[in-house]
Amino acid sequence: MAMTVDIGDLVNVETGKISRRIFADEGIYQQELERIFARCWLYVGHETQLKENGDYITTYMGEDPVIVIRDRNGVIQVLHNSCTHRGMKICRSDEGNARSFSCSYHGWTFSSSGDLVGVPREDVAYSNGIDKSMLGLRRAAHIGILHGMIFATWDPQAPSLDEYLGGMKVYLDLMANRMVGGIEIIGGVHKWIINSNWKLAADNFVGDMYHVPVTHGSSLGIGIRKPWGDDGYQISPGNGHGFGGEFGGLAEGEKAATPYTAFVKEVRKNLEKERGEFVTKIVPIGHGTVFPNFSFLDTMRFRTFRVWQPRGPNAMEIQAWCVVDKALPEELKAAVRAQYIFTFGPSGVFEQEDGENWSQCTSSARGTVGRDGHFDYSMGLGRDRTVKEALGVDLPGRIGGMWSEINQRAMYQRWADLMGAESWRDLA
Ligand code: FES
Ligand SMILES: [Fe+2]
Repeated sequence: MAMTVDIGDLVNVETGKISRRIFADEGIYQQELERIFARCWLYVGHETQLKENGDYITTYMGEDPVIVIRDRNGVIQVLHNSCTHRGMKICRSDEGNARSFSCSYHGWTFSSSGDLVGVPREDVAYSNGIDKSMLGLRRAAHIGILHGMIFATWDPQAPSLDEYLGGMKVYLDLMANRMVGGIEIIGGVHKWIINSNWKLAADNFVGDMYHVPVTHGSSLGIGIRKPWGDDGYQISPGNGHGFGGEFGGLAEGEKAATPYTAFVKEVRKNLEKERGEFVTKIVPIGHGTVFPNFSFLDTMRFRTFRVWQPRGPNAMEIQAWCVVDKALPEELKAAVRAQYIFTFGPSGVFEQEDGENWSQCTSSARGTVGRDGHFDYSMGLGRDRTVKEALGVDLPGRIGGMWSEINQRAMYQRWADLMGAESWRDLA
């Protein structure tokens, strides 16, 4: 096994100092692939992308390509997208419907549940015998589904998805289950590569409202935002997950108003009757990250899911989707999609502003001097309270102000704990 990097002082949440090295070092990156991405529960897609038997999408778990498919029996499978003969990717489309996959290299054929079912010239070429039952595609160790969101892990020893999500689960419920019928993904996937370490994006989405008035300041000038107050929150429900926003949802400018905003207010009113007054404060639930690399935005204008796929210490592939409540009228779905494309995705105005920051932060952490020293995550240190104290409702987690790095500290602590542990058991 490769030498493990001693994580020791790289992350210090007591002082809010996080080493610059973790955003640049190749050895640390390799350790992340093993100890974060081959171990954690990762988001791989949504059930509404797999309506019929045989429907599939392709994505990644860390750097490992996977096919997520509803097999011929209707069971969701997460299969390693790599032929067991010589490793060729057996599926190269983003999405589609298939009864089986034939490898384009030598033609081995796998069923929709990953079994090897066909080998060209089997009788002659393998007159020595071949045990096809031992040569199926590798499967994820566990699959878990929450409100249609499909998560998978490679690690047989991983805790249950419920345990892994911990306190975050009730907040995801407020996002994905606020209307009867839940959510659905509309349109296809946006995917593009930028020169940023994946953690900078996860960190931005988990708890960074501080950048918004500056990085996205021009949104004021063009009338799609109102000025920012100080009245918001960052909630850290445990296990490195987090979310936050402005109380009551983002204050949209006149030019951004669509009928969707009124619709969300209506949904919120109904939800308030059902679940209580706190809902008026934290629905829509704003920006967030489910550790390690699944993030979302849930605003008064649009919603998106995204996964920050690691591609070395200095790059990531972003995959992004538009998300709506299934019960939303069709014309509002179209309005949400238009707002999403205007602001996020590869051509989105906010997305480009964010990506430029993350790429420059990554690039400046690569040099000899750049890798030395720390980034500062001290904002709001020692100022957080329990959610129960602050919102008067029995919900899990701790809460800091809108301008607080409480969530990033929790994310990097989780990262350090996992990076330092030999196994899940070791972590417990
Ligand atoms: S690599 Fe797939 S059949 Fe040879
Ligand atoms: Fe941003």
